[in-house]
Amino acid sequence: MRIKATLIVFLGLGILFSSFRQETKTQNGISSDELPSISTTRFLSDTTKLDKETGLVVDENLYMVKAQCTGCHSTKLISANHFTRDGWKQKIRWMQANHNLWDLGETEKQVLDYLEKNYPPKQMVSRRAPLKDFKWYDLKLK
Ligand code: HEC
Repeated sequence: MRIKATLIVFLGLGILFSSFRQETKTQNGISSDELPSISTTRFLSDTTKLDKETGLVVDENLYMVKAQCTGCHSTKLISANHFTRDGWKQKIRWMQANHNLWDLGETEKQVLDYLEKNYPPKQMVSRRAPLKDFKWYDLKLK
């Protein structure tokens, strides 16, 4: 009987504490649910390479974006924007409706693949750049 009562008390405490735990805040007082998810996109990562000519992210589909998207305006208009795939598609439709952009045909998929992958909606990137000027020192073990 006593053991049962003790078990119930522990169970109750466990449930109580686990409900507290869900409200745990991070050091900045932001609930972990509110933090933006950091995707594995290469956007702004340390290893992102930019094309010298256009300033756009180097990628297997860059050549198609160069072919279709650099005739009328600076590529800065592209790199300054960040949309979802659907958002990019709407921009393309908008240019087609208002600015004489041609039908991209089958190449539209490549262009959208590129834009979706390299210019997605902005996300918080919390990784610092690699350290550059630092000296190693010997650890003195006693
Ligand atoms: C036929 C000409 C033409 C081509 C080719 C073209 N655009 Fe544009 N685009 C425009 C014009 C015109 C504007 C408006 C420029 C301005 O507002 O100064 C524009 C604006 C934009 C903007 C800014 C939109 C905004 O809301 O401010 C983006 C992003 C963009 N283009 C992306 C692209 C991409 C991606 C491609 C390749 C698929 C492309 N453009 C190809 C004519 C073109």
